[in-house]
Amino acid sequence: MKLFLDTAVVEEIREIASWGVLSGITTNPSLLAKAGRSVPDFMREIDSLVKGPLSLEVTAESSEEMLKEARKLRGYGENVVIKLPLTPEGLKTCGQLKEEGISSNLTLVFSANQALLAAAAGADYVSPFIGRLNDNGADGNGLIREIRTIFDRYGIAAKIIAASIRDPRNVTEAALNGADIATIPYAVMKKMIAHPLTVDGLRKFKEDWENSRLSL
Ligand code: E4P
Repeated sequence: MKLFLDTAVVEEIREIASWGVLSGITTNPSLLAKAGRSVPDFMREIDSLVKGPLSLEVTAESSEEMLKEARKLRGYGENVVIKLPLTPEGLKTCGQLKEEGISSNLTLVFSANQALLAAAAGADYVSPFIGRLNDNGADGNGLIREIRTIFDRYGIAAKIIAASIRDPRNVTEAALNGADIATIPYAVMKKMIAHPLTVDGLRKFKEDWENSRLSL
């Protein structure tokens, strides 16, 4: 499973990209608003940092306006994937973008049927929102499992992005249930690397080595 960072904070991208673990980035209007970044500003700053796909979301409601926004967003880079909402207008736009050779990521997916519709419209990525489902007493991991089973059974190539990740366990479960990608917030990424036994083990290695007075 590939790891994407779900953020619009440039410093977070710089730090996690330096680990060499990032395969892409997803953003959304809320993340950009929180970071106080306009899209051109954001794209200029992360230019050399991001190698893989980078999802930027449209905000329009009609397909006509979504298309205009999508073409503009795609103008910021060849790796830009257009994030579209799972609405009739979003599906319509997805098909049109496909014809123009522009990749799309259908977002706000909360059911297997929505994922099927996204794939049928030509989506390259579908983003089921695990955390928001779990927050509402539903089974986010179960949804990943259902979509994986259906896509495998019918040879559907769209990639499943486990989104709305809340904690490291969500990432493990997304991987176990067959997501192709997990898009992970910075805070969760930092928790994923941390383990008290790693810290203890490192301290002990250092202590033993220093006491030995040997050299490398
Ligand atoms: C996915 O692409 C979205 O940006 C994101 O995962 C939304 O998650 P949230 O529920 O934390 O807002």
